[in-house]
Amino acid sequence: MAVLVTGGAGYIGSHTAVALHDAGREGVIVDNFSNSSPKAVDAVRALTTDSMVMVEADMLDSEAVARVFKDHDIDEVIHFAAYKAVGESVDKPLDYYRNHLGSTIGLVAAMVEAGVSKLVFSSSCTVYGQPDVIPVTEAAPTGAESPYGWTKYMSEQILNDAAAAVDLDVVLLRYFNPVGAHESGTLGEDPNGIPNNLVPFVMQVAVGRLAKVMVFGGDYDTADGTAVRDYIHVVDLAEGHVAALDALAGEISGCTAVNLGTGVGHTVLDVVHAASAAVGSPIPYEVVGRRSGDIEKIYAHPAYAEEVLGWRSKRDLADMMRDHWNWQRQNPNGFR
Ligand code: UD1
Repeated sequence: MAVLVTGGAGYIGSHTAVALHDAGREGVIVDNFSNSSPKAVDAVRALTTDSMVMVEADMLDSEAVARVFKDHDIDEVIHFAAYKAVGESVDKPLDYYRNHLGSTIGLVAAMVEAGVSKLVFSSSCTVYGQPDVIPVTEAAPTGAESPYGWTKYMSEQILNDAAAAVDLDVVLLRYFNPVGAHESGTLGEDPNGIPNNLVPFVMQVAVGRLAKVMVFGGDYDTADGTAVRDYIHVVDLAEGHVAALDALAGEISGCTAVNLGTGVGHTVLDVVHAASAAVGSPIPYEVVGRRSGDIEKIYAHPAYAEEVLGWRSKRDLADMMRDHWNWQRQNPNGFR
């Protein structure tokens, strides 16, 4: 039996395909390479097995998706395939709604048709907005600030309703800020164009592709005035997906939302300094104005993940920066 990994060539999907193999499961990757590279699949195969199945298909193509279930013995699904740029979602909301809601609905329909009932879904802490209480628990109110966030919020709702109506058990994993790379340095994050996210930007400065880090906002109510996030090592995150499948194979049923974070908040400057330490030389930065739409502070309450998944993060910020740098140093231009 195999795990269908949609978006398995992407940053989190590819690391999860490796973690599944390491834990004794095999993935069947489906990806359309709209924002990923076939070379990521080569890297996954090199770390796992040459026989890892890769199907090039769009998750909106219902015939192709049905064929994957017919051609392979799938008994579990992890749904990563999605766009991920918050700013782009504001400019192209219909693309985001069509892709995210269409693929989720189509996938669940195909699962029901094929009699597959275990699903892990990539959600985001963005559904909490700026929480009133930090660390944020899964019981906190949810909503969204962008079309991207609304697609996550709506997908969660759709999956809640579907789980109540059909034979479907779902774990919604609300990711905090994934960073880092596989310890081999052969697999990592490879954003298109100028990175939107902090750590890929910092690392591109470190390899000389960009001049300096713009730190967005130095006047927040935090220890050093810069915004606080819960950065989590992508391999910890990947292992959280394996734990979620194990939980679905055991006790858990219905639709359950779980935070995947470390429970520790770091400021932007903490990250720049940790990256400088990993790189071995100071990374130039300048504090500039706030980025519109940013929140001041968020980090996870990780206790529920430990309770229901038996999972907790193991890697700290220094590990994240060491591994991200190891990847970026060996692959200054990513997979290109
Ligand atoms: C964003 C999204 C989130 C998404 C995540 C990963 C929002 C509100 N949230 O999280 O939904 O899941 O990306 O794709 O957009 N920063 C700088 N300089 C930079 C880049 C970032 O100072 O060049 C700061 C930001 O202002 C923020 C922190 O670094 O305080 C982290 O930013 P980023 O990596 O973009 O992630 P989020 O905004 O937390």
